[in-house]
Amino acid sequence: MSRDLFYRIYSFWGLLPFWILCTSSTNKCTVRHEIADCSHLKLTQIPDDLPTNITVLNVTHNQLRRLPPANFTRYSQLTILDGGFNSISKLEPELCQSLPLLEILNLQHNELSQLSDKTFIFCMNLTELHLMSNSIQKIQSNPFKSLKNLIKLDLAHNGLSSTKLGTQLQLENLQELLLSNNKISALRREELDFLGNSSLKRLELSSNQIKEFSPGCFHAIGKLFGFSLNNAKLSPSLIEELCLELSNTSIQNLSLSNNQLYTTSNTTFVGLKQTNLTMLDLSHNSLSVIGNDSFAWLPHLEYLFLEYNNIQHLSSRSFYGLSNVRYLNLRRSFTKQSISLASLPKIDDFSFQWLKFLEYLNMEDNTFPGIKSNTFTGLTRLRCLSLSNSFSSLRTLTNETFLSLAGSPLLILNLTKNKISKIESGAFSWLGHLNVLDLGLNEIGQELTGQEWRGLENIVEIYLSYNKYLELTSNSFALVPSLQRLMLRRVALKNVNSSPSPFHPLPNLTILDLSNNNIANINDELLKGLEKLEILDLQHNNLARLWKHANPGGPIHFLKGLSHLHILNLESNGFDEVPAEVFKDLRELKSIDLGLNNLNILSPSVFDNQVSLKSLSLQKNLITSVEKNVFGPAFKNLSNLDMSFNPFDCTCESIAWFVTWINNTHTNISELSSRYLCNTPPQYHGFPVMLFDISPCKDSAPFELLFMINTSILLIFILLVLLIHFEGWKISFYWNVSVHRVLGFKEIDRQPEQFEYAAYIIHACKDRDWVWEHFSPMEEEDHTLRFCLEERDFEAGVLELEAIVNSIRRSRKIIFVITQNLLKDPLCKRFKVHHAVQQAIEQSLDSIILIFLEDIPDYKLNHALCLRRGMFKSHCILNWPVQKERLNAFHHKLQVALGSRNSVH
Ligand SMILES: *[C@@H]1O[C@H](CO)[C@@H](O)[C@H](O)[C@H]1NC(C)=O
Ligand SMILES: *[C@@H]1O[C@H](CO)[C@@H](O)[C@H](O)[C@H]1NC(C)=O
Ligand SMILES: *[C@@H]1O[C@H](CO)[C@@H](O)[C@H](O)[C@H]1NC(C)=O
Ligand SMILES: *[C@@H]1O[C@H](CO)[C@@H](O)[C@H](O)[C@H]1NC(C)=O
Ligand SMILES: *[C@@H]1O[C@H](CO)[C@@H](O)[C@H](O)[C@H]1NC(C)=O
Ligand SMILES: *[C@@H]1O[C@H](CO)[C@@H](O)[C@H](O)[C@H]1NC(C)=O
Ligand SMILES: *[C@@H]1O[C@H](CO)[C@@H](O)[C@H](O)[C@H]1NC(C)=O
Ligand SMILES: *[C@@H]1O[C@H](CO)[C@@H](O)[C@H](O)[C@H]1NC(C)=O
Repeated sequence: MSRDLFYRIYSFWGLLPFWILCTSSTNKCTVRHEIADCSHLKLTQIPDDLPTNITVLNVTHNQLRRLPPANFTRYSQLTILDGGFNSISKLEPELCQSLPLLEILNLQHNELSQLSDKTFIFCMNLTELHLMSNSIQKIQSNPFKSLKNLIKLDLAHNGLSSTKLGTQLQLENLQELLLSNNKISALRREELDFLGNSSLKRLELSSNQIKEFSPGCFHAIGKLFGFSLNNAKLSPSLIEELCLELSNTSIQNLSLSNNQLYTTSNTTFVGLKQTNLTMLDLSHNSLSVIGNDSFAWLPHLEYLFLEYNNIQHLSSRSFYGLSNVRYLNLRRSFTKQSISLASLPKIDDFSFQWLKFLEYLNMEDNTFPGIKSNTFTGLTRLRCLSLSNSFSSLRTLTNETFLSLAGSPLLILNLTKNKISKIESGAFSWLGHLNVLDLGLNEIGQELTGQEWRGLENIVEIYLSYNKYLELTSNSFALVPSLQRLMLRRVALKNVNSSPSPFHPLPNLTILDLSNNNIANINDELLKGLEKLEILDLQHNNLARLWKHANPGGPIHFLKGLSHLHILNLESNGFDEVPAEVFKDLRELKSIDLGLNNLNILSPSVFDNQVSLKSLSLQKNLITSVEKNVFGPAFKNLSNLDMSFNPFDCTCESIAWFVTWINNTHTNISELSSRYLCNTPPQYHGFPVMLFDISPCKDSAPFELLFMINTSILLIFILLVLLIHFEGWKISFYWNVSVHRVLGFKEIDRQPEQFEYAAYIIHACKDRDWVWEHFSPMEEEDHTLRFCLEERDFEAGVLELEAIVNSIRRSRKIIFVITQNLLKDPLCKRFKVHHAVQQAIEQSLDSIILIFLEDIPDYKLNHALCLRRGMFKSHCILNWPVQKERLNAFHHKLQVALGSRNSVH
């Protein structure tokens, strides 16, 4: 007594400092959406500072010994309380009183040993009670009686020796009762009576050494739909007895895995004939003999599990009666001991003929000698057949191998791992419905002529990866245009560059895997027309030469036109160059892998069209700098970046932009601090890129910028001054011309006959005589030529302004006779010149002809008339010749000037 007391006092005072520490420090529970997770916190008390409105409290994996009801009054909204993995040894009835809404109570892995009638008396709303792995050895009277809403009761891994959980009818809503791993050795009627009103979907009694099924035991239960008794060492006779006890129950699912059912006979399951059994699990039973008509009693069975057995022989009556089975698992069901032919498992012809409704048949991991002509006959609903690793010697697939499947609407056929070495022409011609054909991991070595696929009219996927060698031709896939997915990884592919391309007949292809083939030669036709391609695997080949600018004939753009490509893998190809335009068409690319190549400098704008990229891998290349003009577009929407293990050059020019980006992006970059290290300059060698200090780069940047801006402004200013000084008139003149054009003064391009005069002659009054003398002879010579001479064509002496304007308008050209006199003539100076220029602007620049009688410098001309030689075409500027011999030439030039159309070219 004193010792006990001593310990109690000791533990109380001993724990006190710790307790103070615990409660005074704020607890580390995480609370999200009314769920409080206080697991793994070494708690000895229920925390008292959680929000009162929490509905879920998880206190698993702590050191709780009790769940004091008073500490829960605060959390009256709880519907789920998980107190598993503690040292709770006692439960107070008041707990449920504090938690009236509690629905799930989990106390697994604790030290409960006693449950009294009162323990759960207030837990009326409980639907699940987990008491697995406690030390409950005996249930006295009726602790679960008030749990009227309980659906699941888990008492597995306790020390119970009986199924008896009560003395009266109760648990009327129970659906799952889990009693596995206890010490129950017999099922007795009176020990299951308390379930008389229940209908159990699942009664789990696995791992109990049950040796006795007393008469009527299952009939004590209201309704029993599912029963599991795995790992119980039941012998064939006990199983027969069990089935007899199950007769006339509602049993639908029966699981008897891992017992000792070595053999079945036509009486084993006879007890089940009055039931509607739909699922039977007989896996892991060392079953070696299936007697004829064993399953004849199970016409409702839909799922039959026979995997991991030791069957030697399937005869044509082994499966007799299984007319409703839809799923049959025969994975590793057959004997595997010896490789001698005599002991190989045997499947007789017509063995499956009864399975009219079978849809899924798994025969993986067996050692059948082969397929006979009627092995699968009668499987008229079969959709999925897995024969992966099923045969000891199926070397050649001939046009007769799958004859027995001709009547099956097979969609999926799996033939992996069978050491198949040859496919003969027409091998699959019986399988016109097939969608998926898996021939991977075999030893196929042959030329694909295309006849292998004859008859596969609905094929969607052919998996051929991991075979010995495949030689392609242009016709290899000519008979399967419906193909969408083609896997040719590591098959020592030959003749990929044949023309037209082997893939040319496959316009529907979305996935193409050509990786691990050491391909070095392809042409730009290879993927031509594959517009639907979404995934292209080309990793582990030898394509580097194709993208070298030194490649004879230039780089080969084999990705041209793949506008729907989403995923591109080009890892490990030895690439050291990427042509700038190579990804141009890949606008929908989401992921590109260029890792493990020799890339150093990438051309600017190589990723310009990859703005929707989500994943970019460039790990283990020779990249030294990461610059905006190369990576800017690709980094825009990136979620994952891998550029690890590159020899980064940690200078402002090379990585300042990258470092800034890294520090601001949400993109996932793993192992940033350990795998992104500077290589150069020497003082930064081995230094993490992310820690590179970019502030010096920033400092110089504004100064540089300022300098650049200043210089530019200065230069532009100087240029402008010079320009205005020397060419200002030109600017304003052409500005005028342009404004007129833009505002819609269309060039007047009238026909010559629309003009009354060939030209209007502007001259100084003092030069009248000269003009008269030289222009009227010209008119006489050519009768179509008529000048407008003011003296002659106006009323004598009247220089009416309006008349001048009209005459100018009616003349095709305007001739200025320029002399010193003209420069001084007041009327000319202003009015005529203005109008002439105006018309010239409206019509055309070569509507004005200047005839210089004297040598007049440009500045004087400009000063007096605001005209410059430079405004006009050279052929419109004529000099009156001093020598008489040149007069003819002058006339000719004038003719040319007069005849030219009014337009600016
Ligand atoms: C629960 O209480 C917390 C504060 O303790 C409050 O922020 C939250 O909104 C409450 N939730 C509901 C559903 O009332
Ligand atoms: C409580 O936490 C444990 C461990 O974190 C977890 O396994 C368990 O599922 C949680 N319980 C509930 C009800 O969420
Ligand atoms: C738990 O309840 C007890 C009284 O039953 C009280 O002494 C103790 O302080 C409570 N602990 C917490 C953490 O609320
Ligand atoms: C059970 O829960 C409901 C609300 O879901 C509540 O109204 C009722 O009082 C609870 N029952 C008991 C016995 O506390
Ligand atoms: C089997 O199913 C049928 C129809 O669904 C039903 O009438 C019959 O009662 C069931 N038999 C048993 C033993 O549950
Ligand atoms: C079971 O098979 C034996 C022969 O092996 C046969 O004599 C007997 O009639 C069969 N029983 C039934 C119910 O078919
Ligand atoms: C199978 O091919 C052989 C020739 O290789 C031919 O003689 C035979 O008729 C074919 N069988 C069928 C069923 O097509
Ligand atoms: C074929 O079976 C193998 C082995 O079970 C499996 O890994 C593979 O995914 C299967 N193939 C298909 C197309 O389902």
